[in-house]
Amino acid sequence: MSVLLHRVRPYGEGEPVDVLIEDGIITRIEADVDAPSAEVVDGGGAVLLPGFVDLHTHVREPGREDTETIETGSAAAARGGYTAIFAMANTSPVADSVVVTDHVWRRGREVGLVDIHPVGAVTVGLKGAALAEMGTMHAGDAGVRLFSDDGHCVADPLLMRRALEYAAGLGVVIAQHAEEPRLTENAVAHEGPTAARLGLAGWPRSAEEAIVARDAILARDAGARVHICHASTAGTVQLLDWAKKQGIAITAEVTPHHLFLDDSRLETYDAVNRVNPPLREASDVAALREALASGVVDCVATDHAPHAEQDKCCEFSQARPGMLGLETALSVVVASMVETGLLDWRGVARVMSERPAEIVGLTDQGRPIAVGEPGTVTVVDPDTRWTVAAEELASLSANTPFDALELPAVVTTTVLRGRVTHRRTTSEVS
Ligand code: DOR
Repeated sequence: MSVLLHRVRPYGEGEPVDVLIEDGIITRIEADVDAPSAEVVDGGGAVLLPGFVDLHTHVREPGREDTETIETGSAAAARGGYTAIFAMANTSPVADSVVVTDHVWRRGREVGLVDIHPVGAVTVGLKGAALAEMGTMHAGDAGVRLFSDDGHCVADPLLMRRALEYAAGLGVVIAQHAEEPRLTENAVAHEGPTAARLGLAGWPRSAEEAIVARDAILARDAGARVHICHASTAGTVQLLDWAKKQGIAITAEVTPHHLFLDDSRLETYDAVNRVNPPLREASDVAALREALASGVVDCVATDHAPHAEQDKCCEFSQARPGMLGLETALSVVVASMVETGLLDWRGVARVMSERPAEIVGLTDQGRPIAVGEPGTVTVVDPDTRWTVAAEELASLSANTPFDALELPAVVTTTVLRGRVTHRRTTSEVS
């Protein structure tokens, strides 16, 4: 099986070339490749990037298949240009045992649109009381390499210390949802003038920053690797910078929504804007953009969090936190980072593919676009703008804050090991 990507520009650089992928491997990159038996994708001068890797996706299977399944989540991922995603553990049952993690892994392979790597829970049932069987999950078929109680913070410092010590021994990474729960009781919005005026209970920046600082120090002493989920404040950026300068093995992600939206969105009380951590202030957005450009924040991760209509179409304080992200991530990153001159296409490849793959040690993702490398790539039309239509997304849910918004850049084709997993038809571009 072979695929010919006709007239594409790797990393958006130079004249268009033809890229031939045979048996999953890039075999030729030349001005003009003649491959009569290949499936031809006409790039028309589009940008070619390594396939995107998402370290933070909620696929909701098992347990909430009314909001997303491994099948619909995979389709959404492929449409967003993703070739690997990490499925968070806050399912029902929780992915705190090898039975669940291997199930998610096997279902992902059966669907076959994207590599789905299950994230294992750090604590049993995400309850923060006893460590889950991390070693058993790591030794299973899925070879779990990322552990997180995301949705909940591993708040107990002793338990976090033990988790980091085990993780160091296993060579795996702990991803922390940094939220000191005593500081966020009943909180639904960023603590600041907007929430105060709207009468919404506030979540202070310090709830995130206190845990980031603590866990940097715990990781240092355990010789472990810690990854900070959805960094959202300017203070977190300063702490990451400090910790990295000490040589601490800390990495961090930022979501597209925290790069693009701020708490002025709350004025309408529309619960589509409720998310954990909350949308912050414009100054935080600016600091996060700078940090992603400079590498202090390593990568973009979606925190794709599908929710049912009844869980979003209700009072702000009753709504579940979370937003869709997979199908809009690239466009939001282009709007906030490329159109602002903070990143070029090489930079997009770094933050959406290469760095996330490195953080979790995926050796076949985030690879250079070169002969002999995996044919796992994404084609992006940088010049077409599109209008997001929530009900047309592949996701089973519709809770996107970007609905009806016009965004730049369209993922036209996604290829996983030489197999086309998504191809956008022109009618889909409005
Ligand atoms: O907004 C969020 N939603 N943040 C999280 O950490 C969890 C997620 C979810 O599972 O819905």
